[in-house]
Amino acid sequence: MKKSNPLILIHGFPLDSSMWKNQINFLKEKYQFYTLDLLGFGENKEKTPDSIEGFTEQIKTFIDKNFIKEAVFCGFSMGGYITFAFYELFPNNVSALIFVDTRAAADSEEGKKNRNITLDLLEKEGTNYFVENMPQKLMSELSLKNEALLNEVKQIISKQKEESLKNALIAMRDRKDRKYLLKNIKVKTLFLCGEFDSLSPPDEMKSLSEMVEGSKFEIVRKSGHLSPMENPKEFNKIVDKFLLKLK
Ligand code: MLT
Repeated sequence: MKKSNPLILIHGFPLDSSMWKNQINFLKEKYQFYTLDLLGFGENKEKTPDSIEGFTEQIKTFIDKNFIKEAVFCGFSMGGYITFAFYELFPNNVSALIFVDTRAAADSEEGKKNRNITLDLLEKEGTNYFVENMPQKLMSELSLKNEALLNEVKQIISKQKEESLKNALIAMRDRKDRKYLLKNIKVKTLFLCGEFDSLSPPDEMKSLSEMVEGSKFEIVRKSGHLSPMENPKEFNKIVDKFLLKLK
């Protein structure tokens, strides 16, 4: 059977590649895949760039080093912003796209103001600000009751460095609007969204999907923004179905 191109999973903010823990077992049986820590996150000791394009350069270097000509890119939230930028800059390296709980638009004026408020709070309270406040934004009410999951998410956030969080916030605040790309996407594309995602709500993601010819939009039930961790079983099933069709 022909193998599909490798899958590259790009994590979100303020997390690292360990957010994909529940995808690894299912993926390793069938697919070649990579879960990298973005610059300055998780085990990556480099400086975090203050632009989304800085992260795309990291990914381009990574695939070139691994002699990967074409890959399927799966970006969660901030990872989705990076995936849009990667497709804009290096479309020839992309054979399919999976956008998970993410947006194509830039931050609104209101959104930018909120980023600045968050930057101030980060300066005052450090990473702990995110440990205490981010799970409520990332997870559904139901998932917040799952203590083990809540602790796992808090633990991942607590590992991240203040400077990395600061630069990534600036990168997200200043990112380009890439909605224009949607109508130019020429590869198979899947959009996945948690049923109760309040950061990139299902209606918004569905409308992105409607702009990409032939793309698929799927809801991950009983999940907030953090669908790969909140309902991995359903998330994996949807991704598997999509990847199988690429073989
Ligand atoms: C993420 O989950 O990566 C971030 O919450 C995205 C954002 O803040 O825009």
